[in-house]
Amino acid sequence: MEVNVLLTLLLLFLTGVFSLRLKTVYTRAGEMVVLHCPQKNDPNTNVLWTNQTRQEMNLTSIMSPQSADLNQMNVLLHGHSLVILRASLSHQGNYSCSVRNASRKFWFSLTVYEPQSTEYEERNRYSTTCYTQESCTLYCPTANIPTRDTPNITDRGITWHKEGETVSTPHDFPSAVERDGGIYKCIRSFLYDGQIYNMSFSVMLKIQKSEYGKPEIISPQQNDVFHIDLGSTLVIECKAVAYSDYDVVFWLSENSFVDTDESLPVFYNFSRTKYIDEVNMTASLVFKDVSEEDLLKKYTCKLESDHQQSSFITISLAEKSTPAHRVSLFPVLCTLAVIAVVLIMVLLLACHVKRSKYSSCSA
Ligand SMILES: *[C@@H]1O[C@H](CO)[C@@H](O)[C@H](O)[C@H]1NC(C)=O
Ligand SMILES: *[C@@H]1O[C@H](CO)[C@@H](O)[C@H](O)[C@H]1NC(C)=O
Ligand SMILES: *[C@@H]1O[C@H](CO)[C@@H](O)[C@H](O)[C@H]1NC(C)=O
Ligand SMILES: *[C@@H]1O[C@H](CO)[C@@H](O)[C@H](O)[C@H]1NC(C)=O
Ligand SMILES: *[C@@H]1O[C@H](CO)[C@@H](O)[C@H](O)[C@H]1NC(C)=O
Ligand SMILES: *[C@@H]1O[C@H](CO)[C@@H](O)[C@H](O)[C@H]1NC(C)=O
Ligand SMILES: *[C@@H]1O[C@H](CO)[C@@H](O)[C@H](O)[C@H]1NC(C)=O
Ligand SMILES: *[C@@H]1O[C@H](CO)[C@@H](O)[C@H](O)[C@H]1NC(C)=O
Repeated sequence: MEVNVLLTLLLLFLTGVFSLRLKTVYTRAGEMVVLHCPQKNDPNTNVLWTNQTRQEMNLTSIMSPQSADLNQMNVLLHGHSLVILRASLSHQGNYSCSVRNASRKFWFSLTVYEPQSTEYEERNRYSTTCYTQESCTLYCPTANIPTRDTPNITDRGITWHKEGETVSTPHDFPSAVERDGGIYKCIRSFLYDGQIYNMSFSVMLKIQKSEYGKPEIISPQQNDVFHIDLGSTLVIECKAVAYSDYDVVFWLSENSFVDTDESLPVFYNFSRTKYIDEVNMTASLVFKDVSEEDLLKKYTCKLESDHQQSSFITISLAEKSTPAHRVSLFPVLCTLAVIAVVLIMVLLLACHVKRSKYSSCSA
């Protein structure tokens, strides 16, 4: 009895230790799969792999990287990785890796499913949630893919399909809608020795109703014109309401950022107040002394959001009614012109009178 208890405890202990170092890997026949030995040592250390499929086999001994068996078996050894280029049912089984002469061993249990297996599909479904009206990007999982530095294996990109559709579909939605939800499949392709090898993943996209409103700029309005006197101080407050701490508002002058340095003639400052979920933000564009040059530019207040498309409004400045010095100039010039004309006429008249009296007016 006691011996039994002890044995059970020992077994539990051993399975505990064993399971800590056992990784279950699933793949589908015909696809690529990579086992990564979790050794954080020097990448150049030799890793010893063993294959315990049906009979124990020392992979390192039969497969130096240049081995001829390698291509035949569709297996590559590189660094800490064991790459199975095209998995078949015969690859199914247990594998172990250890850094040469280190006592620690890591185990992998590789299960290879039939290409059309629905069980595989369900076991390997990743899931992600997006919200309506918010931007949404699907990411293709990276589980058991080759590392970037694996020699002679080049990443040939990702293709996305929505389940039931044959044409490739986008995986990036600027503003998600409910019908974007569903099951997507992404295929990662890799090129090795002139051949393409694929890995496919299934990603379930759930769309939920947006929890919050859309962040927006409340004021000013698009194309507003601010009338000011040259030389005066002007503060234009751009007010926005957002629902995330990562959203921000700022000012652009033409296409360059306005600085926040208060010693500059034109700058902006920013303040934010949070009220439960709502964040009110104000970016105040400050002109210490409005110049003619400032009137020529367009100013844009931009609301940048981490999960929504950013939005902006553009405004411009104009002088208040036509300024005094230009108003007075025109009548003054007119008056001067009238006076000049009158003077010339008077002179001509005087001359005419003189000429008729003395028959000479020329100088
Ligand atoms: C596997 O092969 C290597 C190289 O021939 C050898 O050094 C190592 O001892 C072998 N390991 C086992 C477990 O047979
Ligand atoms: C493991 O051994 C089996 C049987 O000897 C063989 O068919 C299979 O290809 C081997 N797997 C790898 C990854 O070398
Ligand atoms: C792999 O290891 C597990 C757990 O030890 C064992 O149940 C299973 O039979 C092994 N499979 C093969 C093919 O050796
Ligand atoms: C591994 O083997 C090398 C050379 O045989 C030896 O110098 C080293 O101490 C060994 N390391 C461990 C952890 O046993
Ligand atoms: C990569 O390919 C080149 C040319 O085909 C070959 O000479 C080299 O041995 C390959 N390297 C590996 C690590 O397979
Ligand atoms: C790999 O995936 C691409 C893209 O979907 C497909 O065109 C190609 O036929 C696949 N190749 C293999 C060998 O499965
Ligand atoms: C921004 O600058 C203006 C002008 O200097 C000032 O009136 C305002 O209080 C400042 N706002 C903040 C939040 O610092
Ligand atoms: C945020 O701004 C909105 C709209 O301008 C306003 O109704 C609300 O009271 C403000 N909240 C806070 C905490 O300032």
